[in-house]
Parts: sequence; structure tokens; C-alpha cells
Amino acid sequence: MKTIQRLLTVAVGALALATPAAMGAGEYYEPAEHTWSWEGPFGSYDRGELQRGFLVYQQVCSACHGMEQLHIRNLGEQGGPFYTEEYPNPNDNPIVRAIAAEYFIEDGPDEYGDMFERAGRPADRFPSPYANDAQAAASNGGAIPPDFSVIVKARHHGPEYIRSLMLGYDYEVPDDIDVGVGQYYNPYMPGKLIAMPPQLQDGLVEYADGTEATKEQMAHDVVTFLTWASEPHMEQRKKMGLMVMIYLLALAGLLYAAYRQVWSNVKH
Ligand code: HEC
Repeated sequence: MKTIQRLLTVAVGALALATPAAMGAGEYYEPAEHTWSWEGPFGSYDRGELQRGFLVYQQVCSACHGMEQLHIRNLGEQGGPFYTEEYPNPNDNPIVRAIAAEYFIEDGPDEYGDMFERAGRPADRFPSPYANDAQAAASNGGAIPPDFSVIVKARHHGPEYIRSLMLGYDYEVPDDIDVGVGQYYNPYMPGKLIAMPPQLQDGLVEYADGTEATKEQMAHDVVTFLTWASEPHMEQRKKMGLMVMIYLLALAGLLYAAYRQVWSNVKH
């Protein structure tokens, strides 16, 4: 009884917490529904989407958004965009090495106590584009572009929200909204004003696999990539879950058989 009471208290508390968000939902648009390859218990990431999404991140978003929890070698790990069986160790993967080499990483101090810059290596983390938050804010009209390491998890309905946000700049500004300097109207953003300029336009990047780089395609791909970045081990987790289910089913069968066996000689 005590437990039930406690559970009820927690449930009521959770409802109370959820209410302001639900009330505020009227202020900005619900993100549009969208279908993703990784949804459902058997869903997995599409390698092509991951690779194209990384390209969009690298060529567009990384100018302002870092991804500091991720190491460059993660790109070549199992489940990652550039994993191949040929290079089980991502540090040997030439694509990952080439990507790493394009980054400048601050290292040091050297023997004279000075910091220096060197080309990136697979073991490095994705560097932040700014030295610190103050510099990030100064470069973006006071707003700080959030780090992308777990952005999909950090936002409600992350994938749908980010996709809608990226495509949400074409709405007409209502009369009662005052768009300040360095602000843009985007009804998916809580408050409907965002300091990030529109990022996507058709043909902005050139995909190596020949896929047409429409706005919608780039938004889909970059969100797929960011979802992977937030949860790189999702595929392994799902596989593991499936194995556990099979194991539990087999165990249940065995237990049932044992139960029949044990009680078979007992008269009812
Ligand atoms: C020119 C710099 C710049 C670039 C390039 C850029 N952003 Fe942003 N982004 C910002 C700033 C600044 C903010 C913070 C906006 C705010 O708080 O009003 C932001 C915020 C965001 C947010 C968080 C919104 C929220 O709910 O708080 C997402 C998601 C995002 N950007 C996605 C992207 C994606 C995806 C790309 C690449 C396609 C990208 N950004 C490229 C500057 C940039």
C-alpha cells in the first residue's frame, strides 16, 4: 500500500511538472511527424544517410556547433558512418584518418611551454569552433550555439524537432511578433525567435553518392547523423535486447517443461 501511495505521489508530481510545458506548447508549433529508418525495435541507421549527414555537419554546422563528447574515431567504429570490416580498428581506417587530418587541434605545451596546433588524429575529440562560451556568444549576437554531442536527446522529440527547426524558416512573420536584429522567425523554436540564421538551401552541399541535396534531404540526413552521435550504440543495444528476449523466452519454455515434469506424477 505504501508503495502504491508513493508511486501515486511521484505520478502526480510528474504531471504537475509536465503541465507548464504542455501549456506552453500552444505558443510554438509541434514538430512535423517524420519516418526514420532507425525507428522501432528492429530499426537501424542507414549508412548512406549517416555519411551524408556527417558531410552536412562538417561543411555547414561545424562552423558554429562543436561535438566535444565525440571522438573522430567514433566515425569508424562499428555502427558508425565510415565503419568497414576491412578496418576493425578505426585508427587505421583511411577515411577516418583523412577526416581527422582536416581538423586543427590545439596541443601542448611543448618543451618551451608553448601551446601549438597540429593536424587532428582519429583519437582526438571533435574540436569546438570557439575557444570559450564568451567567444561563441560574441560571434552569434549573444546566443551560444549548443554542443551537438547529445543535442537529439536534450530536446523533446529531438529528431522531429530539429528537422522541423531546420526547415522552419519560411513562415510569414505574424504582425504581433517583433523580430529583433540578429533574430529570425521560426515557429518551431520555443519563443518562435532564434538567433541561428537559416542554414539549409537546395544544393548547398554536393553528395558523393549522387543524391540530390535538397533542403529536406539535408535536414533528414543531418538529423540521422546527430541521432547516431547522441546514441552511437543504439544498434548494438537493440540487438542485445533481442538476444535477451530470445533467451528469456527459451528459459520460460524450459521452466514450463520442468514444471510439467516435476508435477507429472502428483495426483490432483
Ligand atoms: C553561423 C553559426 C551557425 C551555424 C553554421 C549553425 N548554427 Fe545552429 N545555432 C546557432 C546559434 C547561434 C544557435 C542558438 C540559437 C538561439 O539560442 O537562439 C543555434 C542553435 C541550434 C539548435 C538548438 C535550438 C534549440 O532548441 O535551442 C539546433 C538544433 C541547431 N542550431 C542546429 C543546427 C544544424 C543542424 C546546423 C547545420 C545544418 C546548424 N545549426 C548550423 C548558430 C549556427
